[in-house]
Amino acid sequence: MNGRFGGRRAVVTGAATGIGAAIARRLADEGAHVVVADIDAQGAGEIAREIGGTAVKLDVTDPAAVHAALGGEPFDVLVNNAGIDDWGWFTDVTPQRWRRLLAVNVEGTFACTQAVLPGMQRAGYGRIVTVSSEAGRIGSKGDAVYAAAKAAVIGFTKSIARENARFGITANCVAPGPTETPMVQSIREKDGKVLAAMIAGTQLNRLGTTGEIAAGVAFLAAPEASYVTAETLGVSGGMGLGA
Ligand SMILES: NC(=O)c1ccc[n+]([C@@H]2O[C@H](COP(=O)([O-])OP(=O)(O)OC[C@H]3O[C@@H](n4cnc5c(N)ncnc54)[C@H](O)[C@@H]3O)[C@@H](O)[C@H]2O)c1
Repeated sequence: MNGRFGGRRAVVTGAATGIGAAIARRLADEGAHVVVADIDAQGAGEIAREIGGTAVKLDVTDPAAVHAALGGEPFDVLVNNAGIDDWGWFTDVTPQRWRRLLAVNVEGTFACTQAVLPGMQRAGYGRIVTVSSEAGRIGSKGDAVYAAAKAAVIGFTKSIARENARFGITANCVAPGPTETPMVQSIREKDGKVLAAMIAGTQLNRLGTTGEIAAGVAFLAAPEASYVTAETLGVSGGMGLGA
């Protein structure tokens, strides 16, 4: 196999569409065998067929199912990408809504990481990349719980990096800015002004593409990123500077 990921096995969660699908394509293009894991079985199947990978129907909020699906086989790369947003002013957010948001974005990351770590530790090698968000670093109007969830995975990642350095495992985050995906399309439909404000918050004054985010993830997931751990790489058109 050619490419940076030749002979490597990777699992990408939430890979049926959007950023996750772009990551799966990118890793496969560079030689990885990719497990396309998503709650959307049909979408996962389509991407897996396209890239010659394996589809797994997986709800990351179900730890037992995650362990059953990912715990048995060794992976070189885990990309925790599955995530949901639920835009709304915080005064309107119910406990039910915030629990769902935390369950997918935070607990899903815990479950997938816990499922693959023992195999990586035995192998003495691993790359864990978690898709956070600039919202987790600078906050975001109408996205308070989402921002909290994305900050949580950054703290989690730094701790996993500390615990697992001795096993040759790195753990890093990518913090995308607003990126053209179905998630952003739903924000556009709810309130176009909110999306315009997000775009204005970037220095490059545009949405990112899924391919641009995938390139950042691939860098951190590659064997050569061996001296990079506990970092959060902004792929956000300069949004991390703040307004
Ligand atoms: N699009 C953006 O502007 C943006 C910006 C910053 C961060 N992000 C983050 O990037 C990641 C991908 O976002 P996207 O825009 O591609 O989203 P998307 O909504 O387009 O795709 C998300 C994917 O995750 C899957 N998914 C949702 N819940 C799941 C669950 N419980 N188990 C398994 N899979 C599940 C969906 O089926 C879908 O395929 C998310 O973590 C998101 O928070 C996105």
